[in-house]
Amino acid sequence: MAELLLYNAGQIFTAAGGPRRRAALAEKTVADGDAVLMREGLIIAVGARADLAGLAGDDCDAVDCGGRLVTPGLVDCHTHLVYGGSRADEYEQRLGGASYLEIFEAGGGIHTSVRHTQQATEEDLFASARRRAKVMLRHGTTTAEVKSGYGLTTEAELKMLRVAARLDKETPLRVVPTFLGAHALPPEYASRREEFVRLVAEEMTPAVAASGLARYADVFCDRGAFSREETETLLRASREAGLELRLHADEFEALGGTELAVELGAAAVDHLAVVTDAGVRALAASNTVAGLLPGTTIFLGSGHFAPARKLVEAGALIAVGSDHNPGSCHAASLRTILTPAATYLRLRPAEMLHAVTINAAYSLGLADHVGSLEAGKAADVAVFDVGDVNELFYDWGPARAWLTVAGGEVVFRDPPV
Ligand code: NIG
Ligand code: FE
Repeated sequence: MAELLLYNAGQIFTAAGGPRRRAALAEKTVADGDAVLMREGLIIAVGARADLAGLAGDDCDAVDCGGRLVTPGLVDCHTHLVYGGSRADEYEQRLGGASYLEIFEAGGGIHTSVRHTQQATEEDLFASARRRAKVMLRHGTTTAEVKSGYGLTTEAELKMLRVAARLDKETPLRVVPTFLGAHALPPEYASRREEFVRLVAEEMTPAVAASGLARYADVFCDRGAFSREETETLLRASREAGLELRLHADEFEALGGTELAVELGAAAVDHLAVVTDAGVRALAASNTVAGLLPGTTIFLGSGHFAPARKLVEAGALIAVGSDHNPGSCHAASLRTILTPAATYLRLRPAEMLHAVTINAAYSLGLADHVGSLEAGKAADVAVFDVGDVNELFYDWGPARAWLTVAGGEVVFRDPPV
């Protein structure tokens, strides 16, 4: 694998120094120098071009960044990238006044995507997910967590996870797979809830763990989905099977899932639109990352943004994800969400950028490998067509990266007009 040198950067935002909370989140982690040298998929050094010149070999590829902003490749810590079908018609219904939960409770929403996903071939699921992965890479995302959860049978969940594994292997996107067997109660189990919880805990979870296809297990703990008690049963079974934990909680109603997840040492609790003060305190006193998904609040039009400032000031570790999924947030580009997210969550540019790089990487157990520009870490880099971090947020509209490097290879370059 060749060497790659990016030089003449306007600013290099490194996100160096590990996951950040409180005031450290807002520090502008900007490198002295204008260049990043990479070799064999790893970052060799960040600094002034003159100092790095001696480290580079003769056949090193060099890219003049023309005064642009260089950042770590973005890390999207919450996506549902694999699914069949489209719910564009339900979006129209929502614009016409129907609510997300009404559509879900009437057998649409997640259930619609489950039907499409169960019917889809593995090849079709891979083809559509690959298109979304391509959007991510063009927009500077180089790592994404990908959940199952539209299969809801052992076989269909494994099918989704095999597609996630193929995405990791056959595209430049780095994929962290999560098993979400408890995403929704299938309608045929409406009068037999315990039976489905038992199926997920006792059959699906061990099968998924044995397949090696998932690192994390997740549960949707909310109104219309799974209760705190059911969530506890499911998370404990997952932990016992050797899976690490994350959770969807407090999107519509706070059922106590946040406190439970913290108690069980989950890596992350995501959504938190209606998190309680007790939930904020529990997160602040833990290493469980508060995953904020403002794109979902915007796309649902609910107006309930997670209390980002309160979480930061209390001392919680926060990350921000796209939540790309077929219903509540159909945006694969984390970059697109950055500005409205910063505006509504009232997070400053450096806070947001740490939340979508090093803190997101930490929530995925990858903080030693991705999420910052430091020697020895993966050569995953995004270059944006702006001069500095403030402009990245201020220049609201252009969403594509100018250049994306994944594993030391240029995987996207903005074509000249
Ligand atoms: O994170 N909240 C639950 N799951 C997804 C939405 C899934 C869907 O609507 O298909 C989410 O928002
Ligand atoms: Fe989700």
